[in-house]
Amino acid sequence: MSSISIIGSGNMASAIGALALAGGNTVEVTGRNSAKAASLARTLGGGATTGTWGAPPTGDIVVLAVLFESAVEVVRAYGEALANKIVVDITNPFSPAGVGLAVPHDTSVAQLVADAAPESTHVIKAFNTLFRDVLASGGPRDVFMAGDDAEAKERLSVFVTSLGHRPRDTGDLSMAHWLEGASLLEMGLARSGLGFGLSLGVSLGGAE
Ligand SMILES: NC(=O)c1ccc[n+]([C@@H]2O[C@H](COP(=O)([O-])OP(=O)(O)OC[C@H]3O[C@@H](n4cnc5c(N)ncnc54)[C@H](OP(=O)(O)O)[C@@H]3O)[C@@H](O)[C@H]2O)c1
Repeated sequence: MSSISIIGSGNMASAIGALALAGGNTVEVTGRNSAKAASLARTLGGGATTGTWGAPPTGDIVVLAVLFESAVEVVRAYGEALANKIVVDITNPFSPAGVGLAVPHDTSVAQLVADAAPESTHVIKAFNTLFRDVLASGGPRDVFMAGDDAEAKERLSVFVTSLGHRPRDTGDLSMAHWLEGASLLEMGLARSGLGFGLSLGVSLGGAE
Protein backbone atom coordinates (compact mmCIF):
# COMPACT_ATOMS: atom_id res chain seq x y z
CA MET A 1 0.00 0.00 0.00
CA SER A 2 1.22 3.51 -0.81
CA SER A 3 0.14 6.84 0.62
CA ILE A 4 -0.68 9.24 -2.18
CA SER A 5 -1.22 12.97 -2.22
CA ILE A 6 -2.62 14.52 -5.34
CA ILE A 7 -2.08 18.20 -6.07
CA GLY A 8 -4.89 19.23 -8.42
CA SER A 9 -8.54 18.31 -8.53
CA GLY A 10 -9.30 17.95 -12.23
CA ASN A 11 -9.78 14.99 -14.57
CA MET A 12 -6.48 13.21 -13.98
CA ALA A 13 -6.66 13.79 -10.22
CA SER A 14 -10.05 12.13 -10.25
CA ALA A 15 -8.92 9.17 -12.39
CA ILE A 16 -5.72 8.51 -10.42
CA GLY A 17 -7.49 9.03 -7.09
CA ALA A 18 -10.22 6.51 -7.92
CA LEU A 19 -7.75 3.87 -9.11
CA ALA A 20 -5.50 4.48 -6.11
CA LEU A 21 -8.33 3.89 -3.65
CA ALA A 22 -9.51 0.81 -5.52
CA GLY A 23 -5.93 -0.47 -5.28
CA GLY A 24 -5.91 -0.15 -1.50
CA ASN A 25 -3.84 3.02 -1.20
CA THR A 26 -4.60 6.09 0.91
CA VAL A 27 -5.41 9.30 -0.96
CA GLU A 28 -5.21 12.98 -0.04
CA VAL A 29 -6.47 15.61 -2.50
CA THR A 30 -5.25 19.19 -2.45
CA GLY A 31 -6.10 22.00 -4.83
CA ARG A 32 -5.68 25.75 -5.01
CA ASN A 33 -9.48 25.77 -4.83
CA SER A 34 -10.07 24.02 -1.49
CA ALA A 35 -13.81 23.60 -2.05
CA LYS A 36 -13.16 21.80 -5.33
CA ALA A 37 -10.54 19.56 -3.69
CA ALA A 38 -12.92 18.73 -0.84
CA SER A 39 -15.67 17.95 -3.34
CA LEU A 40 -13.38 15.54 -5.22
CA ALA A 41 -12.34 13.86 -1.95
CA ARG A 42 -16.04 13.39 -1.07
CA THR A 43 -16.83 12.01 -4.54
CA LEU A 44 -13.91 9.59 -4.35
CA GLY A 45 -14.99 8.36 -0.90
CA GLY A 46 -12.93 5.47 0.46
CA GLY A 47 -11.50 7.62 3.24
CA ALA A 48 -9.96 10.18 0.85
CA THR A 49 -8.94 13.32 2.72
CA THR A 50 -8.38 16.95 1.77
CA GLY A 51 -4.99 18.57 2.29
CA THR A 52 -3.98 22.17 2.84
CA TRP A 53 -2.55 24.01 -0.14
CA GLY A 54 1.19 24.57 0.32
CA ALA A 55 1.46 22.47 3.50
CA PRO A 56 3.52 19.25 3.57
CA PRO A 57 1.48 16.56 1.79
CA THR A 58 0.68 13.51 3.91
CA GLY A 59 1.50 11.09 1.10
CA ASP A 60 4.97 9.78 0.36
CA ILE A 61 4.13 9.92 -3.34
CA VAL A 62 2.84 13.28 -4.56
CA VAL A 63 1.10 13.34 -7.92
CA LEU A 64 1.38 16.74 -9.57
CA ALA A 65 -1.91 16.80 -11.53
CA VAL A 66 -1.93 20.41 -12.68
CA LEU A 67 -1.54 22.00 -16.10
CA PHE A 68 2.04 22.07 -17.36
CA GLU A 69 2.17 25.87 -17.34
CA SER A 70 1.67 25.91 -13.57
CA ALA A 71 3.80 22.90 -12.57
CA VAL A 72 6.98 24.82 -11.72
CA GLU A 73 5.04 27.63 -10.04
CA VAL A 74 3.19 25.12 -7.83
CA VAL A 75 6.39 23.29 -6.87
CA ARG A 76 8.04 26.63 -5.99
CA ALA A 77 5.02 27.58 -3.87
CA TYR A 78 5.29 24.29 -1.94
CA GLY A 79 9.07 24.65 -1.53
CA GLU A 80 10.46 22.65 1.40
CA ALA A 81 7.04 21.06 1.96
CA LEU A 82 8.05 18.65 -0.82
CA ALA A 83 11.38 17.67 0.77
CA ASN A 84 12.00 13.90 0.72
CA LYS A 85 8.83 13.27 -1.33
CA ILE A 86 8.51 11.43 -4.59
CA VAL A 87 6.90 13.96 -6.94
CA VAL A 88 5.27 12.49 -10.02
CA ASP A 89 5.00 14.91 -12.93
CA ILE A 90 2.18 13.78 -15.23
CA THR A 91 1.99 16.92 -17.38
CA ASN A 92 2.01 17.19 -21.14
CA PRO A 93 3.50 20.44 -22.43
CA PHE A 94 1.66 20.63 -25.73
CA SER A 95 2.00 23.79 -27.81
CA PRO A 96 -1.27 25.73 -28.32
CA ALA A 97 -1.84 23.99 -31.67
CA GLY A 98 -1.16 20.60 -30.06
CA VAL A 99 1.48 19.66 -32.63
CA GLY A 100 4.70 20.47 -30.76
CA LEU A 101 6.24 20.78 -27.32
CA ALA A 102 6.01 24.05 -25.42
CA VAL A 103 9.31 23.50 -23.59
CA PRO A 104 12.81 23.86 -25.08
CA HIS A 105 14.15 20.73 -26.77
CA ASP A 106 17.00 20.25 -24.30
CA THR A 107 14.76 19.88 -21.26
CA SER A 108 11.30 18.80 -20.05
CA VAL A 109 8.65 19.96 -17.60
CA ALA A 110 9.84 17.19 -15.28
CA GLN A 111 13.41 18.52 -15.38
CA LEU A 112 12.20 22.08 -14.73
CA VAL A 113 10.13 20.76 -11.82
CA ALA A 114 13.20 18.94 -10.44
CA ASP A 115 15.26 22.14 -10.75
CA ALA A 116 12.60 24.01 -8.73
CA ALA A 117 12.11 21.30 -6.07
CA PRO A 118 14.18 20.74 -2.91
CA GLU A 119 17.30 18.67 -3.48
CA SER A 120 15.90 15.75 -1.47
CA THR A 121 12.80 15.50 -3.71
CA HIS A 122 12.78 12.67 -6.25
CA VAL A 123 10.98 13.77 -9.40
CA ILE A 124 9.63 11.11 -11.73
CA LYS A 125 7.84 11.63 -15.02
CA ALA A 126 4.99 9.13 -15.34
CA PHE A 127 1.38 8.64 -16.48
CA ASN A 128 1.59 11.37 -19.14
CA THR A 129 1.28 8.85 -22.00
CA LEU A 130 -2.09 7.53 -20.81
CA PHE A 131 -5.21 9.39 -21.89
CA ARG A 132 -7.45 9.83 -18.88
CA ASP A 133 -10.15 7.41 -20.05
CA VAL A 134 -7.56 4.78 -20.94
CA LEU A 135 -5.96 5.09 -17.53
CA ALA A 136 -9.34 4.92 -15.81
CA SER A 137 -10.68 1.96 -17.76
CA GLY A 138 -8.19 -0.47 -16.30
CA GLY A 139 -5.18 -2.33 -17.45
CA PRO A 140 -2.74 -3.45 -17.72
CA ARG A 141 -1.42 -0.61 -19.83
CA ASP A 142 2.21 0.47 -19.80
CA VAL A 143 3.02 3.38 -17.50
CA PHE A 144 6.36 4.79 -18.61
CA MET A 145 8.53 6.32 -15.91
CA ALA A 146 11.68 8.46 -16.10
CA GLY A 147 13.62 9.47 -13.00
CA ASP A 148 17.07 9.53 -11.46
CA ASP A 149 16.46 7.58 -8.24
CA ALA A 150 16.11 3.81 -8.56
CA GLU A 151 14.46 3.34 -5.16
CA ALA A 152 11.90 6.07 -5.86
CA LYS A 153 11.04 4.39 -9.19
CA GLU A 154 10.72 1.07 -7.36
CA ARG A 155 8.24 2.62 -4.93
CA LEU A 156 6.30 4.22 -7.77
CA SER A 157 6.27 0.85 -9.54
CA VAL A 158 4.53 -0.71 -6.54
CA PHE A 159 1.89 2.02 -6.73
CA VAL A 160 1.43 1.64 -10.50
CA THR A 161 1.01 -2.11 -10.11
CA SER A 162 -1.65 -1.55 -7.44
CA LEU A 163 -3.62 0.42 -10.06
CA GLY A 164 -3.71 -2.60 -12.35
CA HIS A 165 -1.18 -1.08 -14.74
CA ARG A 166 2.38 -2.04 -15.69
CA PRO A 167 5.38 0.11 -14.72
CA ARG A 168 8.00 0.55 -17.42
CA ASP A 169 11.28 2.20 -16.42
CA THR A 170 12.63 4.18 -19.38
CA GLY A 171 15.76 5.48 -17.63
CA ASP A 172 16.85 8.65 -15.91
CA LEU A 173 15.06 11.99 -15.84
CA SER A 174 16.54 13.05 -19.19
CA MET A 175 14.14 10.52 -20.75
CA ALA A 176 11.22 12.69 -19.58
CA HIS A 177 11.73 14.86 -22.66
CA TRP A 178 11.08 11.86 -24.86
CA LEU A 179 8.08 10.77 -22.80
CA GLU A 180 6.60 14.22 -23.32
CA GLY A 181 7.27 13.77 -27.04
CA ALA A 182 5.71 10.29 -26.93
CA SER A 183 2.41 11.88 -25.94
CA LEU A 184 2.57 14.00 -29.09
CA LEU A 185 3.06 10.81 -31.07
CA GLU A 186 -0.06 9.39 -29.42
CA MET A 187 -2.03 12.54 -30.24
CA GLY A 188 -1.00 12.17 -33.88
CA LEU A 189 -2.00 8.51 -33.97
CA ALA A 190 -5.30 9.21 -32.22
CA ARG A 191 -6.20 12.04 -34.57
CA SER A 192 -5.16 10.04 -37.63
CA GLY A 193 -7.87 7.49 -37.09
CA LEU A 194 -6.92 5.23 -34.20
CA GLY A 195 -8.92 7.23 -31.67
CA PHE A 196 -8.26 8.13 -28.06
CA GLY A 197 -8.52 4.59 -26.67
CA LEU A 198 -4.92 3.88 -27.64
CA SER A 199 -1.75 3.89 -25.59
CA LEU A 200 1.86 3.19 -26.46
CA GLY A 201 3.19 -0.05 -25.02
CA VAL A 202 6.19 -2.35 -25.08
CA SER A 203 5.98 -5.62 -26.93
CA LEU A 204 8.52 -8.25 -25.92
CA GLY A 205 7.39 -10.80 -28.42
CA GLY A 206 5.73 -12.95 -25.79
CA ALA A 207 8.65 -12.83 -23.36
CA GLU A 208 6.96 -10.50 -20.88
N1 LIG B 1 -6.63 14.55 -19.39
C1 LIG B 1 -5.81 13.64 -19.91
O1 LIG B 1 -6.19 12.74 -20.68
C2 LIG B 1 -4.34 13.70 -19.55
C3 LIG B 1 -3.54 12.57 -19.83
C4 LIG B 1 -2.19 12.58 -19.45
C5 LIG B 1 -1.67 13.70 -18.82
N2 LIG B 1 -2.46 14.79 -18.59
C6 LIG B 1 -1.87 15.95 -17.91
O2 LIG B 1 -2.40 15.96 -16.59
C7 LIG B 1 -2.49 17.31 -16.11
C8 LIG B 1 -3.89 17.52 -15.58
O3 LIG B 1 -4.79 17.32 -16.64
P1 LIG B 1 -6.35 17.30 -16.38
O4 LIG B 1 -6.97 16.70 -17.58
O5 LIG B 1 -6.63 16.73 -15.05
O6 LIG B 1 -6.66 18.88 -16.36
P2 LIG B 1 -7.87 19.62 -15.65
O7 LIG B 1 -9.04 18.75 -15.51
O8 LIG B 1 -8.01 20.92 -16.39
O9 LIG B 1 -7.31 19.95 -14.18
C9 LIG B 1 -6.22 20.81 -14.04
C10 LIG B 1 -5.95 21.06 -12.57
O10 LIG B 1 -4.85 21.98 -12.49
C11 LIG B 1 -5.20 23.03 -11.60
N3 LIG B 1 -4.49 24.24 -11.96
C12 LIG B 1 -4.51 24.90 -13.16
N4 LIG B 1 -3.73 25.99 -13.09
C13 LIG B 1 -3.22 26.04 -11.83
C14 LIG B 1 -2.36 26.94 -11.15
N5 LIG B 1 -1.84 28.03 -11.74
N6 LIG B 1 -2.05 26.68 -9.86
C15 LIG B 1 -2.56 25.59 -9.25
N7 LIG B 1 -3.38 24.69 -9.84
C16 LIG B 1 -3.70 24.93 -11.13
C17 LIG B 1 -6.70 23.17 -11.76
O11 LIG B 1 -7.19 23.88 -10.66
P3 LIG B 1 -8.61 24.64 -10.75
O12 LIG B 1 -9.67 23.57 -10.75
O13 LIG B 1 -8.61 25.49 -9.53
O14 LIG B 1 -8.61 25.42 -12.03
C18 LIG B 1 -7.13 21.72 -11.83
O15 LIG B 1 -7.21 21.17 -10.53
C19 LIG B 1 -2.14 18.20 -17.29
O16 LIG B 1 -0.82 18.67 -17.14
C20 LIG B 1 -2.26 17.29 -18.51
O17 LIG B 1 -1.34 17.66 -19.52
C21 LIG B 1 -3.79 14.81 -18.92
